[in-house]
Amino acid sequence: MAQTLTISRPDDWHLHLRDGDMLRAVLPETYRDFARALIMPNLVPPITTAQEARDYKDRINALLPEGSSFEPRMTLYLTENTVPSDVRHAHENDVIQAVKLYPAGATTNSASGVTNFERITETLETMADIGCPLCVHGEVTDPDIDIFDREAVFIERVLQPIKSQHPKLNIVMEHITTQDAVDFVAQCDDSVGATITMHHLFINRNHILAGGIRPHYYCLPVAKREEHRQALRKAATSGNRKFFLGTDSAPHLDSLKEQACGCAGCFTATNTMPLVAQVFDEEGALDRLEAFTSLNGAAFYKVPKNRETLTLERSEHPVAFPKSIESATGPVTVFDPGQDIYWRVAREKQQ
Ligand code: DOR
Ligand code: ZN
Repeated sequence: MAQTLTISRPDDWHLHLRDGDMLRAVLPETYRDFARALIMPNLVPPITTAQEARDYKDRINALLPEGSSFEPRMTLYLTENTVPSDVRHAHENDVIQAVKLYPAGATTNSASGVTNFERITETLETMADIGCPLCVHGEVTDPDIDIFDREAVFIERVLQPIKSQHPKLNIVMEHITTQDAVDFVAQCDDSVGATITMHHLFINRNHILAGGIRPHYYCLPVAKREEHRQALRKAATSGNRKFFLGTDSAPHLDSLKEQACGCAGCFTATNTMPLVAQVFDEEGALDRLEAFTSLNGAAFYKVPKNRETLTLERSEHPVAFPKSIESATGPVTVFDPGQDIYWRVAREKQQ
């Protein structure tokens, strides 16, 4: 008999769904396995007001099948012009559950992000006051800083000062990629957590660059050395409640990734759960999978764990996953772990 594992239905605490044709194509890949997802606001133009967040949520909900209980949880894109009372209002009325900080120019559609961090002080004060979490893209954008050092330098120059200035503020350091980030988050009090993606548990920088350049492994923050990947696997499988799953699944058309200047993002929604199960199996930590995918994030965001479940099963033979999904404007490649995977979601056993 195949080995099975039933866990509370997981949540994705960091997800890019885009809009229009792309939203339509990628949304089923997430609601199939996940109960809730925190939706990133880096649309073009970004979601900066409560009304925009409300409208975007309506567009997502309109594409859910009849009877779906999937819950998109919305975020606002923090700019230097964000009005603190708007954030208060949006959070108090449950329109948004978090605010996202992008340093200007750090990643895809981050041009409206923050350049001068002093200009967001009042907003952060308000957020600390009302208990609205700040989700942080943790990379400096200074061209003098090597891309592989940008996360570590961000902790020192930006995150640590923000934390000292706003000790009560709940902060999620998103998609961490380094031992430095693991250590920083681990030594903070419980107001600071971190998301870890599935793909950073599989790839290091060699996977992107050795033996040819692999555009579908390029994302930001970029994968680092092997020792950092190992640190992430250790943190994710540790059971430490500060670490939880945020896929950062970020669809881009293949035509935009496979070119002279390809954009950043790995599309992982389709196979995240089997691949995460594979990692926990390899690390001898299947008993802690549920904490990482379904409990720790819910506890951080102060929502109950999901009552529905998801069952995973271990197959005797390697499992095949779709190579890509189709959108109306072209294919989007699904993340390829580059190794055999023995886990799959047991669809027929789901409620
Ligand atoms: O690789 C990434 N892609 N990192 C991000 O932070 C943004 C994302 C996107 O929106 O494509
Ligand atoms: Zn992201």
